[in-house]
Amino acid sequence: MAAAVLLLVLPILAAAPAASATSSGEKDTHIKLYWHDVVTGPNRTAVPVGGGAVTNTSRTAFGTVIVIDDPLTEGPDLKSSKLVGRAQGTYIGAGKSEASLMMNMNFVFQAGRYNGSTVAIMGRNAVFDAVREMAVVGGTGMFRWARGYAQARTHALDLKTGDATVEYNLYIKH
Ligand SMILES: *[C@@H]1O[C@H](CO)[C@@H](O)[C@H](O)[C@H]1NC(C)=O
Ligand SMILES: *[C@@H]1O[C@H](CO)[C@@H](O)[C@H](O)[C@H]1NC(C)=O
Repeated sequence: MAAAVLLLVLPILAAAPAASATSSGEKDTHIKLYWHDVVTGPNRTAVPVGGGAVTNTSRTAFGTVIVIDDPLTEGPDLKSSKLVGRAQGTYIGAGKSEASLMMNMNFVFQAGRYNGSTVAIMGRNAVFDAVREMAVVGGTGMFRWARGYAQARTHALDLKTGDATVEYNLYIKH
């Protein structure tokens, strides 16, 4: 009887130190940066699948798929702020009756302390909401095992061109 109980307890005891070591080594990181979506002009960083002009199949761009390689900068000004990386991936017009995007992108750090690491972000972006929250679903390099969330706030939107600058705050456990 006692031996059977020990057999049950031993694996738990053996596993406990490893688990606590992992959680005690975990870091919380906050990163603030600016995401620039340039949808027009010779240096556009966002192109619709197919490469043509953005065709709004509806008022909400439902059904449109955009591939992005958007610059990420430390400050809000694309021309003068330090470039820290790129947001590479896609966003999809996923709302039939509202301007709601499905974001699916990697933040690829190319300068500073996170150079060479990436953070994977996926989530719903209702672009006219003041704050949009998306999931941080993973990462590489310094962000292995990452989980957390991102909050996006529109900093500037040019209604004529559609170009946008968005402030992103990432809250990451890794
Ligand atoms: C496009 O990029 C090139 C190279 O960086 C630059 O010389 C040019 O001024 C840019 N054009 C515009 C319209 O921003
Ligand atoms: C980022 O890392 C790459 C690869 O190690 C290196 O070539 C590059 O110079 C670094 N960039 C900056 C701005 O530190």
